[in-house]
Amino acid sequence: MADLRNNFVGIKSPNPFWLASAPPTDKAYNVERAFKAGWGGVVWKTLGEEGPPVVNVNGPRYGAIWGADRRLLGLNNIELITDRDLYTNLREMKQVKKNWPDRALIASIMVPCEEQAWKAILPLVEETEADGIELNFGCPHGMSERGMGSAVGQVPEYIEMVVRWCKQYTRMPVITKLTPNITDIRKPARAAKAGGTDAVSLINTINSIVSVDLDNFAPNPTVGGKGSHGGYCGPAVKPIALNMVAEIARDAETYGLPISGIGGITTWRDAAEFLALGAGNVQVCTAAMTYGFKIVEEMITGLSDWMDEKGHRTLDDVIARAVPNVSDWQYLNLNYIAKAKIDQDACIKCGRCHIACEDTSHQAITNMVDGVRRFEVMEEECVGCNLCVNVCPVENCITMEELPAGSLDKRTGKIVDPNYANWTTHPNNPMARQAAE
Ligand SMILES: Cc1cc2nc3c(=O)[nH]c(=O)nc-3n(C[C@H](O)[C@H](O)[C@H](O)COP(=O)(O)O)c2cc1C
Repeated sequence: MADLRNNFVGIKSPNPFWLASAPPTDKAYNVERAFKAGWGGVVWKTLGEEGPPVVNVNGPRYGAIWGADRRLLGLNNIELITDRDLYTNLREMKQVKKNWPDRALIASIMVPCEEQAWKAILPLVEETEADGIELNFGCPHGMSERGMGSAVGQVPEYIEMVVRWCKQYTRMPVITKLTPNITDIRKPARAAKAGGTDAVSLINTINSIVSVDLDNFAPNPTVGGKGSHGGYCGPAVKPIALNMVAEIARDAETYGLPISGIGGITTWRDAAEFLALGAGNVQVCTAAMTYGFKIVEEMITGLSDWMDEKGHRTLDDVIARAVPNVSDWQYLNLNYIAKAKIDQDACIKCGRCHIACEDTSHQAITNMVDGVRRFEVMEEECVGCNLCVNVCPVENCITMEELPAGSLDKRTGKIVDPNYANWTTHPNNPMARQAAE
């Protein structure tokens, strides 16, 4: 059996699945149930400074995007940090940690960007015996207008400064949670590293307006006739999160910095992809809010079964394995050639591949052959773009087939270079030529 035990910056948990800081981790009742269901750890809903808690809207907090089957693809929220009293949270955290010593319990914190505010809260959190802290530099709404959350996360100098204070005033490991609402994610990650962070976690939610109510002409969710931009998450954001994780994992300046991967993780496969791109563990929010805590069971058994099947014994056999294969465009092998192929037995003759190719691409798919409705790829026109594969409603009906070395590419009339696999040193590779000069 694969060993799923996780050690993230010295914080141990029985598996790499943590719940991200959000409503599922807002109180002891939820967290206890999550641990019973099997979650390896939680990042408690973000704590604020001492004093009256923040006040949330009392109307709708969420907007959503659905697929045609009403499956939730993206969730948008205008919620703030915890609206419960700081000391109630701290008391509950301490009790939960005592009850579940083998699970990871991380305190998420967001206080004003002032040394005194951080210095004051850290000993209170330490008192709970939490395993670490996560600095919430991510929330794009509500708190950022008050100079916190993404207002800090968008300024690398502030990140570095706050991380430094935290490293100075606490012995707990520091995880810096990054906002995706920035052009180049490597810059805040580098700043966090310069400040001495033990790890980064990403992504927090993406700034967004999810839809507009066309009867009232106001963004959704609409609160008394008005709406506000909110934070977007769920399956729709996974590609953005994966790229940002990979950017940090392969950046020379942050290479080796532990990453907790977050964003749209719903299945074991999503989690495995984050691990492969360099995440040391993962955090989940929307999937738990959509399907309940028990989805972790599928994540655990799915990941474990896949690791067994592939012969990966521990998470270290998977973590960062895909990072060396993430390349900048200019290093892609231009001598590699693939063509679409349609499985005639699987084809339902809907014609979507033909329309897409005919109207918008390379006119490489027939709709009639010898007077009969039939969809075939004309190899002499196909550039291997893959659009037909993506618009085809039947999975695996259209596949991309690599042309073997030495065969004829009917489109260009050239023989596929027998040496094309050696692209790094190939004379057709402009980067190789540049390096040789
Ligand atoms: C309703 C809601 C509230 C959230 N509150 C917090 C929060 O208090 N602190 C925080 O760091 N992130 C918060 N998040 C962001 C999540 O922790 C997570 O980064 C984000 O939702 C992406 O993960 P997902 O796609 O699995 O949901 C919240 C997300 C949602 C949906």
